[in-house]
Amino acid sequence: MRRLAQLREKLLGLPAFDDSRITDEWFRSHFHYASDVVAQWLSPVMDVSTARLLQFGCGDGITDLALVLRHGAAAIHGVDVRQEYAKLPRIAQEQLGLQRIPAALSFQTITPSAPLAGQAPLYDGIMSWSTFEHVQRDQLLPILKDLLACLKPGGHFFLQIEPLFYSAFGSHLRRYDSVAWHHLLVDEDALWKVIAAYDGELSPDEVDFGFADFGPEGYKRFVFKEYQELNRLTADELVALAKEAGFTVAREERRHYEPEPVPEALLAQYPREVLTNNEIFLLLQRPV
Ligand SMILES: C[S@@+](CC[C@H](N)C(=O)[O-])C[C@H]1O[C@@H](n2cnc3c(N)ncnc32)[C@H](O)[C@@H]1O
Repeated sequence: MRRLAQLREKLLGLPAFDDSRITDEWFRSHFHYASDVVAQWLSPVMDVSTARLLQFGCGDGITDLALVLRHGAAAIHGVDVRQEYAKLPRIAQEQLGLQRIPAALSFQTITPSAPLAGQAPLYDGIMSWSTFEHVQRDQLLPILKDLLACLKPGGHFFLQIEPLFYSAFGSHLRRYDSVAWHHLLVDEDALWKVIAAYDGELSPDEVDFGFADFGPEGYKRFVFKEYQELNRLTADELVALAKEAGFTVAREERRHYEPEPVPEALLAQYPREVLTNNEIFLLLQRPV
């Protein structure tokens, strides 16, 4: 059935969309920025118009949709422990006037510790965007090994994390708290009081489609719990884990952000590099 739909799409083309209709800033940043970055990193190492791709931690699937509609990706399977992708048909209808989700896309809800290897033929490429900082620490190595086993030998895995935990807004709480490195300077109770007391506007590009489900106060609790569950991974730790899992590093880029001088108290506790490194782009490869 799916293959037939894909073939039909190949012959008749993708459903029409109009990205001038986009009003939601979260949607815009994933439909344009995130998908452009993923495409820029994957295109030199594979032909996305023929590759079968796996997105680990697909969230609402907007980036995957854009990879298909704007970058010609042939087949993307998105997996996530949550089911935000179920909102994609409605969101894409609202934001793009899209009548149906392309047959090139499929999604699956997974349990955090269940291996993916063996469930489908080996993938040509894997990607993961703003997800690995949320994976439970003891699951990082098993998941990386599992993803390696899902890839064809020689295949690539593009992974991005932003913001990294020890960076100025590594708490992921910037939408409520503009004090740089606040999460490293005060205890959890003090931090929660700041979030709970916040009654201003939220930056539109930081409000995902889950906000409507939770409401303003529920969203605060959800985001704070996400903060408490961050695995606090540094870029060096991520690279070391990826190598331990069996990947080689084909390319990497680390970005730095210092919106104001780093507090001396923190420099006494953590390396400056760790405190200023807010983003990592990593292109991993399964050895041939
Ligand atoms: C910040 S969201 C990013 C989602 C999407 N990549 C995006 O850019 O919008 C992090 C995602 O990681 C997912 N996640 C967390 N732990 C996971 C795991 N062990 N396996 C798969 N997905 C996971 C969460 O459910 C969430 O959708």
